[in-house]
Order: sequence, then C-alpha cells, then structure tokens
Amino acid sequence: MTITESVEKSRKTLGGASSRKRDERAAKSAKPEIRRVSPALGAEVLNVDLREDLPDETIAEMRKALNENCLLLIRDQDITPEQHVAFSRRFGELEIHVLTEYLLPDLPEVLVLSNVKKNGKIMGRAGVGEYWHSDLQYLAKPSLGSIMHAIEVPEIGGDTMFANQFAAYEALSDGMRDLLDGLEVVHHFAKARYNSVQVGYARPYSDEELKKTPPVTHPAVRTHPETGRKALYASPGCALNFVGMTEEESRPLLEFLYRHAINPRFLYRHKWRANDIVFWDNRSLMHYAVQDYDHASDRRHMHRTTVSGDEPY
Ligand code: SIN
Repeated sequence: MTITESVEKSRKTLGGASSRKRDERAAKSAKPEIRRVSPALGAEVLNVDLREDLPDETIAEMRKALNENCLLLIRDQDITPEQHVAFSRRFGELEIHVLTEYLLPDLPEVLVLSNVKKNGKIMGRAGVGEYWHSDLQYLAKPSLGSIMHAIEVPEIGGDTMFANQFAAYEALSDGMRDLLDGLEVVHHFAKARYNSVQVGYARPYSDEELKKTPPVTHPAVRTHPETGRKALYASPGCALNFVGMTEEESRPLLEFLYRHAINPRFLYRHKWRANDIVFWDNRSLMHYAVQDYDHASDRRHMHRTTVSGDEPY
C-alpha cells in the first residue's frame, strides 16, 4: 500500500462520529479543567479522555487554551495510534513527514521518535531535536502544532524544553521590534540535517529528501493567525540568513536573537511520564529535546503527529 493509500484508508476508518453523536456526548461529558503549569507557558487539561470522540465544544476549549498557553499537557492517556491520529485530526490536516522510513507503516501520520529496538532494528528516529527549533519551519506552510504521545520514557532524563516566542518578542525594545518587523529569514532543512548529525545520533538526510524541501522565506516575526499576537520566528534549527544579507552579515543579529529567545523566564521544561500527551504550538514556541539519557540502556519511545499550518505572515 502506498503512503497516500494508507492516509486515505485511515481517514475513512477514523472518520469520526456524526455531529449528533457528538452533541449527545457534549451534554453528558464534564467540562475540561485548564490549569497553568509554569509562569512561562503551558497548561494541563484535566477531565478529558482521548479514547473518546470528544464533543466539538471540548475541542474548541482545548484550541482556545492552546492559543492562550502555547502548550497543553494531558496526562494518563493510554491511547492507540489510531486514537492519537483521530484526536489530532480534530485540529486540522496532518503532515506526512519527509523522512518516510520513521512513519508507522499503516498509519503514516505518526512519526516514531524512538531508540527502542525490535528484531535488532531501532523502531524510529533516535536522538533527534537536540537544538532549538520549531517543527517543519523549513516548509512554506510550517506546522500549526505537534502532538506527542509518550509511550516509554527514561526514569531520569529525556526531557523536552519549550521557549515562549510571544514573550521573547514582547521583551524586546521598540527599536529592535521595528527592525525585526521589516525582516524576513531564509530557512532550510539542510541546516536541520547539519544540526542532527552534529549531535551524533541521526543519519544525514538524503539528496532526495533535501530536494523535496528547498529553502523557504518567512517573516522574522510572525503573527499568530488565531489571536493576532506576535512571536519571534527565527530558530537556530533551520534559519540561514536574513533576506538581502549574507550569512556572515546575518549571524550577529541571529545569534543575539537565539540567546534572547531562550531566556530562562521564557522556558518550560517538561519531564515526561508514560502516557503523557503534549500538544505544542509551533507558531509560538521553539523546543529542544535533551539527549542526556543513556541511549544504550534507557528506552524512550514516542509517537508524534504534526498538524498542518498556514503560511506565516
Ligand atoms: C521533536 O519533535 O523535536 C522531538 C521532541 C522530543 O523528542 O522530545
């Protein structure tokens, strides 16, 4: 079965309930409780069970909470990949990652990030993301958000850090904001390849994969399409230079922004528990996967879906 056929099949199978059924459930279900988890960003959502086909009202509340808090944490969700995909689809179309060997064979919307071996073979992409980035920023239409299900996690280590880019933008001087408001940044997947290989676990991307992802240009400051709030949007993950400037000329300002963007006041560090779901907004956050656990003995097995987004403006 091709990837397109698998996507079509899962779309039909997981199509979701009728709106009448959702209305019935809405009448019965408890209201989700939203509780902030850190001063910088993030909120825990309580009273939801992602095995259920949640009412539209609950999804709308979660979307509002995501826009306000940039990250949602939903604990104790022992869900199947199918339920993960069905929940994710409530927020938009899902991306099929360019690195196709790491997708679940029958459910290519799920990217496997794992160092766990099955029949002698590592089951997913291991040890990646140890640099500040926003998922799929190298695409013309980068991702709205990523939804990660922790299936197995090390007892200690393997946290993910998040940095609030609304807060980073708002903390800049008026002069710097005016300067950045007029700038655009060139992003390229090749830079992400360099980062992953530097860290030492990832294989380099192939020329074929790179051909599918030519350089793109995005504003240095993007406006959140749902709230109108402005966020800094240049991450060391794949930014190369400002449009109209060389890489050498761009470097001092980019490096200042990278340092500024990860001020401890803007950060939340998530310590994973098995069956956590974390849904982060790629339009307002950067994240960093800390590879500080022992890859030979500590198992970390995660499933990620990636919700498609709009062209930044
Ligand atoms: C990623 O999406 O960059 C990976 C995050 C993680 O493994 O914690």
